Amino acid sequence: MRKKIAAANWKMNLTLPQAHQLLDEILGQNISLEKHQEVIFAVPFPYLTEMNKRTFELKNYYTAAQNCSDKKSGAYTGETSVEMLQSIHVAHVVIGHSERREYYHETNELLAQKVNMAIGAGITPIFCCGEPLSIREAEGQNEFVAKQLLESLYHLTADEIAKVVIAYEPIWAIGTGKTASSQQAQTIHAFIRENIAGKYGAEVADNISILYGGSVKAANAVDLFSQPDVDGGLVGGASLVGNEFTAIIKALPA
Ligand code: PGA
Repeated sequence: MRKKIAAANWKMNLTLPQAHQLLDEILGQNISLEKHQEVIFAVPFPYLTEMNKRTFELKNYYTAAQNCSDKKSGAYTGETSVEMLQSIHVAHVVIGHSERREYYHETNELLAQKVNMAIGAGITPIFCCGEPLSIREAEGQNEFVAKQLLESLYHLTADEIAKVVIAYEPIWAIGTGKTASSQQAQTIHAFIRENIAGKYGAEVADNISILYGGSVKAANAVDLFSQPDVDGGLVGGASLVGNEFTAIIKALPA
């Protein structure tokens, strides 16, 4: 069975005391995860070590970075390499979030380099894709997402892409309160899986977790996560609220 994942994306939020308090609230629930379930907290860089200490001991709980450099090391002021993440035992990194694509001009080609860096360091990329509203309104979402996959992931071997987690996040649903309906999510997730199957075969495609992101909350998580091709969520706003994210974890299929 492929992994079912509740991933929190804290973005640029919370002070360190607030971050600890939020983890107190969530981890204090002692939700034990089954073998196929994972909970991942993508936290700001300065908190990685401390948050990782708290999740490290817990089965199937992880702390992730929200970004990494496309370069190995050297004179790149302000950047964080995968080697640095590896050295503090961070096992996952979010790559290609739409906010990075939009505000920091990250292209599919650059993201392919970041994916290579992460895989080379044994770190799982949580690769984000998804279309803006204008593309959805013109019904061009499948082509748009297929191009993102092609240009950032399809140079990988089958063994390598098997290590990637995909997060489909329609930009029009991020932070807007406007969620894709569970049917809309299922339809495009099935398309993504078929697209991967077309390139790598059905077995590889069947084993890749595809998360949905965009205004996931306690109230819609069960409905979204019960779709056959939706393997959990990448959650922004609701991941900052202890009881919301706890309910989202509990919504992961057993
Ligand atoms: P949101 O963000 O849940 O606040 O819509 C999701 C994301 O950007 O990963």
